[in-house]
Amino acid sequence: VEKDGTRVFTLRMQRGRTEFRDGVGTPTWGFNGSYLGPTLRAKRGEKVRVRVTNGLDEASTVHWHGMHLPARMDGGPHQMIAPGATWIPHWTVDQPAATLWYHPHPHGRTEDHVRRGLAGLFLLDDETSARLPLPKRYGVDDLPVIVQDVRFDGPRLAGDRGLMQNVGFLGDRTMVNGTLRPYRRIHDELIRLRLLNASTSRTYAFGFSDDRAFSLIGTDGGLLERPAVMDRVQLSPGERAEIVVRMTAGERVVLRSFPQKNYGDRWQQRFNGGDDSFDVLQLRADGRLRPSPDLPATLVPSELPDAEQAVRGRYFDLKRSGINDRPMKMERIDEVVTRGTTEVWTVRNTNGMPHNFHVHDVQFRVVEVNGKAPPPPLRGPKDTVFVPHGTTMKLALRFTGPADPDTPYMYHCHMLYHEDTGMMGQFVVV
Ligand code: C2O
Ligand code: CU
Ligand code: CU
Repeated sequence: VEKDGTRVFTLRMQRGRTEFRDGVGTPTWGFNGSYLGPTLRAKRGEKVRVRVTNGLDEASTVHWHGMHLPARMDGGPHQMIAPGATWIPHWTVDQPAATLWYHPHPHGRTEDHVRRGLAGLFLLDDETSARLPLPKRYGVDDLPVIVQDVRFDGPRLAGDRGLMQNVGFLGDRTMVNGTLRPYRRIHDELIRLRLLNASTSRTYAFGFSDDRAFSLIGTDGGLLERPAVMDRVQLSPGERAEIVVRMTAGERVVLRSFPQKNYGDRWQQRFNGGDDSFDVLQLRADGRLRPSPDLPATLVPSELPDAEQAVRGRYFDLKRSGINDRPMKMERIDEVVTRGTTEVWTVRNTNGMPHNFHVHDVQFRVVEVNGKAPPPPLRGPKDTVFVPHGTTMKLALRFTGPADPDTPYMYHCHMLYHEDTGMMGQFVVV
């Protein structure tokens, strides 16, 4: 922290070697280390500045996924960092406590850079989150859970798609925080898991091996108005969920990903991951657990935009050929939105395969899914939503600026193979 209160972070993208399996070194990329990156953390109202140095031998960027910030600081494909160069974005945190993340965003190369290990968490805190009696001791009862699927090709991380795989690369096993076969000792009755799907293409339906219920307390952009009890939460690439699970002394339970019902047709289910299941993380409770306070009945008031106030609607058809049939072009601005206004965006997928939809700079409200009110996991602040085939979603978004007619933000499918091959568009706020 500097004298004027600015919180300063240093990130260096670099090559390394990681021993995922004993005695086998795998070439990987990481921030400040050989794989993944440090968890950054800042408070609402704080100024942050990040010194990002590119220690790779190819150009890349670092994007702050879920962060509300000026377009020039966003780290999208227009803020490339040459090998050896340093980029120093800065902004003031102006949004609620949340589990955000950061990753590269070079156009056409995002899948490759993320898959090699460039990703990390960016946690935000605020006064309300500090006051609420939630598990919040980082690494003790508040655990980061970065989920990635991988496949090993000898010592290397594979990155190729199978012949039947139209969603992108799919691994045959998962890692948590870069660890294979992970387990965690648990010392407290209530455990908060901050789930991030940092996989390039795979969607998960998380739950527990004994089907126990858990409480969803937060989505992509922060806490819900109240905890919602459920036994599955589905996360497509880029999405986050904060859940709280109750543990019993001495037990072992596994966080698992289950086959998904709403993923797609039989082809998609079978060959593109819908039917797959994985043991993701084993929780091993101590013989004695520290008591935790009960979850509060209410969490935070909603700050989500209101669809009634929308001044304009836009339509996004998710097609493999490009959103609205227009493949991404760096020099084309697709949409111009007016600062300070609310809009309703209708996102439709009739493309036969799963897609998702991510919008930079904002946290939006899901207003409708196929004409109905959204289910609880889609009621909180979202920046990325899963849009399986046959789905039409209405989103309410508010663009609060600042205005910058020359620098676009992105919207795209966050299945990174799709993003890289054209399912992305650009908007400016004026
Ligand atoms: Cu997480 Cu445009 O990305
Ligand atoms: Cu983003
Ligand atoms: Cu897609």
